[in-house]
Amino acid sequence: MADVMILAAGLGTRMKSGRAKVLHELAGRPLIAYSVRTALQVMPGRILVVVGHQASEVEAAARQAAKSISGASELVFVNQKEQRGTGHAVLAARDSLEGSRTLLVIAGDGPLIKPETLRHLLDVHYSNKNDASVVTVLMDDPTGYGRVVTDTGGRFLHIVEQKDATPEQLLIREVCVSIYCFETRALAAALDRLNTDNAQGEYYLTDVPEIISRQGGKVGTVQHADPEELAGINTRVELAELERKLRDQKIRQLMLDGVTIVDPATTYIHQDVSIGQDTTIHPQVVINGSSRIGRGCTIHSWTYLRDVNLSDGVTIKHSCVIEDTSIASSASVGPFARLRMQADVGDGAVIGNFVEVKKSTLGPGTKAQHLTYLGDATIGSNVNIGAGTITCNYDGVRKNQTTIEDNVKIGSDTMLVAPVRVGKGAVTGAGAVVTNDIPPDSLAVGVPAVVKKKLGKA
Ligand code: UD1
Ligand code: CA
Repeated sequence: MADVMILAAGLGTRMKSGRAKVLHELAGRPLIAYSVRTALQVMPGRILVVVGHQASEVEAAARQAAKSISGASELVFVNQKEQRGTGHAVLAARDSLEGSRTLLVIAGDGPLIKPETLRHLLDVHYSNKNDASVVTVLMDDPTGYGRVVTDTGGRFLHIVEQKDATPEQLLIREVCVSIYCFETRALAAALDRLNTDNAQGEYYLTDVPEIISRQGGKVGTVQHADPEELAGINTRVELAELERKLRDQKIRQLMLDGVTIVDPATTYIHQDVSIGQDTTIHPQVVINGSSRIGRGCTIHSWTYLRDVNLSDGVTIKHSCVIEDTSIASSASVGPFARLRMQADVGDGAVIGNFVEVKKSTLGPGTKAQHLTYLGDATIGSNVNIGAGTITCNYDGVRKNQTTIEDNVKIGSDTMLVAPVRVGKGAVTGAGAVVTNDIPPDSLAVGVPAVVKKKLGKA
C-alpha cells in the first residue's frame, strides 16, 4: 500500500499574502482541503502532510477536511521549520518515511487533481517497476513550470526549473506538475545527494528523478492529457479563474439535475451545497457552506444562505440573510429577514419583513410578519406575533429564554422581558411589557403587563 505526501509548507510568495497559500479558499474550501480529499480517495496507507508556514492553521484545515470524509486514513503532520524548497520539504519528512515502501507526492496547491489520476500513476509505476514516476503534461503556456528534458528517443533525462532553463529548454511544453511516485528507498538515497546549486538556492524535488536515474534506478514519465486538472495555483488571478470554473461546473450540474437557475452568471453556489428538483434560484443569490435545499423551493434575488437546511416547498423572498438555520416545508421567509444561530422554523410558518430570528424555534403555522426580534425563544404552533414584538433576551449579563406556547396571540409592540413564559392560548395587548409569566388562556395588557381576564376556551 502506498503512502501519500502532500507538500504544503510554503508561504506562496506569488499570492502576495500574509496568509499561507494553501489556506486561501477556492469555492468555499481552503486549497489544502482539496489535496487532502483527493489523497483520502486514493485510500492510501498514511497521508503525510508537510506543514511549515502557519503550520497550526494548515494542520487544522487539513484535519477539518479529513473529518468530512468517512473512514479517513491517518494524517501525519511533519514540520518543515524553514522552507528551503520542495526537496527540502521531503527531506524534513524523512524520519516519517520509515516503513513506507511506495510514496505518492503531490503539492498542496493543485486542487483539481483527481484520485483516478493518482491511481493511474500508481498502476503505471508498479507495472513498469519504476523507482520514480513523474506525471507530466503538455501546457500551451508552460511559463513557470519545470520543463521535462528528454533525450532524442523521448526518454526522461531531467527536469529544469524555469529560472534555470536555457532559451531552448524554455520552449519545451512538457512540464512537471509536482505529482510523483517514488520507491521510498530510492527516494531516500537520492535525497542525500540533493544540493542547492541552482538559480533559487533551494533543494529542488525536481532534481530527485535525475539523481535516482544516475544511481541506476528506473525513472518513467506518465503524460496526462488534461492540463487544466493539473494546473497549480500560484497567484490570486489563477485562484479566481479556477473559482469561476468550479462555480460554472457546479451550477451546470445542478441544472442538469433539475434545478432552475435563472441567471447562472450571477448565482454563486458552493461545492458542498445540494439542491432538490424543481427548486428555482433567482439572480444574485449566494448559497454557501454545506446547505441542503429541498425540492420545489423558490429562492428570490439578493439572498445569502449559509449552512441552511430547507425542506421541500420553502419560499425565501428577496434580500434575506439566513445562516445556520432549518426551515420546514412550505414555510415562507422574507423579504428582508435575518435568521441565524440554529433558528428553526416549523412547517408552513411565515417570517415576514424585517424580522430577525436568533437561536429560536418556531412551531408549525406560526407567523411573525413584521418588524420583530425573536432571540432565545421557544415558540409553539399557530402563534401570531404582532408587528414590532421584541424578546428582550439580554439583561446586560446573560441571555434569557422566552417561551410562547401554542395558539398565543402576541399584540403589536409587545416587549417580552425574558425569562418569561406565555401560556397556551394567551393574548397580550398592544404595547404590553411582559415581565411575569402569563397563565394560559388569559389576556395581559399594560406596562408592566397585568392579567385582565381569563379567556373562554376557543
Ligand atoms: C514546483 C516545481 C515545478 C513544477 C511546479 C508546478 C520544484 C522545484 N518545482 O514549482 O517544477 O512545474 O511546482 O507543479 O519543485 N513547498 C513546501 N516547502 C518548501 C517549498 C514548497 O512544502 O520549502 C510546497 C508548497 O507549499 C507548494 C508546493 O510545495 O504546495 C510547490 O511549491 P511551489 O513554490 O508552488 O513550487 P513551484 O514554484 O510552483
Ligand atoms: Ca506551484
